[in-house]
Amino acid sequence: MAMLEVKNISKSFGGLKAMNDVSISVGQGEIVSVIGPNGAGKTTLFNLITGVYTPDTGDIKFEGSSIAGKKPNQIVDLGVARTFQNLRLFMNMTILENVLVSQHHKLKSNWLSALLRTPGYLAQEKAMREYAVEKLAFFGPRLQSFRLHQPVFVLSYANRRRTEMARAMATGAKLLLLDEPSAGMNPKETREITQIIRRMRDQGGYTILLVEHKMNLVGEISDRVVVLDYGQKIAEGSYQDVVNDPTVIEAYLGKKAEGKEETEVQKAAKMDGRTI
Ligand SMILES: Nc1ncnc2c1ncn2[C@@H]1O[C@H](COP(=O)(O)OP(=O)(O)O)[C@@H](O)[C@H]1O
Ligand SMILES: [Mg+2]
Repeated sequence: MAMLEVKNISKSFGGLKAMNDVSISVGQGEIVSVIGPNGAGKTTLFNLITGVYTPDTGDIKFEGSSIAGKKPNQIVDLGVARTFQNLRLFMNMTILENVLVSQHHKLKSNWLSALLRTPGYLAQEKAMREYAVEKLAFFGPRLQSFRLHQPVFVLSYANRRRTEMARAMATGAKLLLLDEPSAGMNPKETREITQIIRRMRDQGGYTILLVEHKMNLVGEISDRVVVLDYGQKIAEGSYQDVVNDPTVIEAYLGKKAEGKEETEVQKAAKMDGRTI
């Protein structure tokens, strides 16, 4: 049984079919990438899995139980967390506070024990803090020690993305959905985040579904790649298979790829940091 099973889901916005009969499965411990041109439906897929939208038809199962139609917070509690293409951090709160927010739902205490700071409350708070720091440590020393207490607005864009990833990890999720984790990062930062995503799986034990435009990142870490175009799944397979698939090349170029053109696209796809 796959950890995540998306079965024949469709979703329309007015007359636009943003998701059309899409099925995707992700096995425990896999890194699966979703690629496709702008407007293909990648973020919509994430919104459907995380309960922001309910599919019109089809079903989504996580660890064998249907999550379609559940509320976003219920889906987080079950073990699915995400990051956003456009970051959603609390700019005036510190790095640590932003990561702790994701664990708040787990605090087993009422307002009175919080107010009185009972030993039970303090012990829970300490454990949460340590868990948050442990997740932030995935990103090296830059999000540690005194930096924990810096407000997010002073951080670089790359550090904001890292903080959001730590927040998703600190929910206690097993499955992480990362929406363009390297957006706004330079080639060096992109190479580093590629390695970190791999470590999140290898050492952190997370299963990862990611949306990404940078083909070098996708090629380096994906066990499998799914290609969406106009809300439909047009290809699925290894990175090499999909970037060599004429249907995929055509979707990106909007024209038939033959002979020389195809070779150029393949080269472009493999170039460091290039987006196709
Ligand atoms: N809430 C919404 N209301 C109307 N249209 C939407 C909504 N969300 C997404 N869409 C449309 O669905 C299509 C897919 O969007 P999106 O999933 O954001 O694409 P991608 O992430 O692949 O670039 C686009 O045409 C977009 O305008
Ligand atoms: Mg998107």
